[in-house]
Amino acid sequence: MGKEQLSPALFIGVQGEDIISFGSGQPDLPPPDAVYKILPDYRDFKYGLIQGTSELRQALSRQYPSSTADSFVVTNGASEALDLVLRAIARRGDPQKNKVLLARPYYYSYPHIVRFAGMEPVYTDAIDGRIDFDDFAAKVPDCKAVIINSPSNPTGRVEAIDTLKKIEAITSELGVYVLSDEVYKDLIYVRENYLIAGPHVVTINSFSKTFAMCGFRVGYLWSLDQELVQETIAIKTHTSMNTNILGQEMALAATSVPVSFIEEQLEVWRQRRDLIYQGLLDLGLELWKPEGAFYVMPKVEDPEDFVWDLYERYNTITYLGEWFGAPDRVRLSYALDVDKIEEGLQRIGQYLKSR
Ligand SMILES: Cc1ncc(COP(=O)(O)O)c(C=O)c1O
Repeated sequence: MGKEQLSPALFIGVQGEDIISFGSGQPDLPPPDAVYKILPDYRDFKYGLIQGTSELRQALSRQYPSSTADSFVVTNGASEALDLVLRAIARRGDPQKNKVLLARPYYYSYPHIVRFAGMEPVYTDAIDGRIDFDDFAAKVPDCKAVIINSPSNPTGRVEAIDTLKKIEAITSELGVYVLSDEVYKDLIYVRENYLIAGPHVVTINSFSKTFAMCGFRVGYLWSLDQELVQETIAIKTHTSMNTNILGQEMALAATSVPVSFIEEQLEVWRQRRDLIYQGLLDLGLELWKPEGAFYVMPKVEDPEDFVWDLYERYNTITYLGEWFGAPDRVRLSYALDVDKIEEGLQRIGQYLKSR
């Protein structure tokens, strides 16, 4: 095995006493207690509604203005929501226009799921981790859909509200779908979230990050376009069927936890963000200051050597920027407690000195 074999699959789920993993983006903090409390009395093991339990969809509809329970589909994480919507959109309108605009660096699954849906990814290169609206506006007329992810995995950046409003307007004018991947909307350090809205928008979210429930696989899509919602249900009926019914019950419990749960978690993330950002700057690395989510993307020389040697010699996992469309960078998730972040920074420092 050598560095040419580097892939996310090599690292996902890897654990060990002395391993420090800045790899996978899963919160280490526990889910809210309310989520476990349902377990002793839980007895439902049957198939559920494909669209998701009506209780959960009703609870979600209370969180989104002008929505109803009918406009949600509960999915196996945000991942399935993205996949279903892309496949539904690919079958609509002009097949010649089956292109999806992605801001680069992008979440590493986007190009894959776009292609699985039979569409082609088109890229707009971000400037300092944020969308370059002029380039976006030049490319979007040729596309059927765009995916917006703010706060972003992998950059940790948050788009300016002004940019989001311009994207909302131009896509509405052109009739281009916006898939707004909001899985980090509750993890913003710099301002309130801005919800991109309109009949051409599909909001995608998840219980994975805010409520630290990645493994339960509960997410959802929300759209005012009822036909599109029905098309995603039709695809789901013949693919995964209902989303895990116990996970949905746990997610329902999560919808009623007080907002202080999210605020307290945000403070923990902010402390970690400050620690890793300053730590990497002190090591002489160039990076964008994260404004949301829990990722940093420093520039490094020879990223492949960096990722491979840190893993092999220092038991420290980092991800190649190339997987996210940023070949001169690496991505670190700081979903780790402060002690581990400090230890990991020390190891990176030792490694950099040894180069
Ligand atoms: C931007 C983004 N979208 C979607 C997902 C997938 O989330 P889920 O666990 O809800 O499928 C992730 C997970 O890391 C992500 O970072």
